Amino acid sequence: MKKWYAVIGDPIAHSLSPFMHDTWFQENGIDASFLPIHVEPSELKEACESLQLLGAGGFNVTLPHKQAIIPFLDGIDEAASEMNAVNTVVRNGKNFKGSNTDGDGFVQSLLTADPRTDDKILLVGAGGAARGIAFALDRAGFSDVTITNRTFRRAEELAEETASESMTKSDAEQNLGGFDIIIQTTSVGLAEDEALPISLENAKTGALAVDIVYNPIDTPFLKKAEEKGCRTLNGVGMFVYQGAIGFEKWTGIKPDTEKMIKVITEKLGGNYVNR
Ligand code: ATR
Repeated sequence: MKKWYAVIGDPIAHSLSPFMHDTWFQENGIDASFLPIHVEPSELKEACESLQLLGAGGFNVTLPHKQAIIPFLDGIDEAASEMNAVNTVVRNGKNFKGSNTDGDGFVQSLLTADPRTDDKILLVGAGGAARGIAFALDRAGFSDVTITNRTFRRAEELAEETASESMTKSDAEQNLGGFDIIIQTTSVGLAEDEALPISLENAKTGALAVDIVYNPIDTPFLKKAEEKGCRTLNGVGMFVYQGAIGFEKWTGIKPDTEKMIKVITEKLGGNYVNR
């Protein structure tokens, strides 16, 4: 029987996951389809039961369902419980198990920029996305991570959980020149006229600025970082790697990530630079 997979979210029309996974199915000769399914929050339980009943092999979960889906699954793995959020669901017989590949996807993308594990890292934000990244950086052996956030208490709490340091936003701005890698994980700064989540005035020339947002590809944060002479890494890599980890969980096959990053970058109107 033909296998099928899905991504559920609200909204869902602009998701690039169906394109990415369908391409990988074709490239690997797998007879399967990947469907975008619009699910409103009030329908989440029924949607999960339907996916189960109709035989989905697995599915991705995107906003706003990443936390709300948890009670409707048969279990979650360690990464998902650390983040209290699920982005990938894998079928095991009759069970659906939730996982979270965002943090490890982020780290795999970061590794393409050749960081050192003793680089001084500033993580900007302490929400769900920052949580996954902080835990994944810790697992990957990055030993010098400082967390800053508008609401300082949240930065302190996350730092405590991940054996990192915390710093107020104003201290981080003043001491920005001491950081080798600055990672922006907040939901601000998407629009041109919005303020940046942190001032980059004191950024060190040659530091690496990373944004987890991939659409737009060239965020105001990355543009400013470039002006300050920083190297930049956009969110396309994280998107592709989080998907690739999920694809391997579903099929046992590692898909071609390098080609996919290139294709998606071009699709989003950016120029692909081979770092
Ligand atoms: P996500 O799961 O996308 O990380 P989230 O858990 O709601 O979403 O977290 C949003 C992050 O963006 C938080 O770090 C938040 O800071 P607060 O903890 O102070 O709310 C940050 N954020 C959102 N709006 C912001 C703003 N206008 N200025 C600075 N940081 C902001």
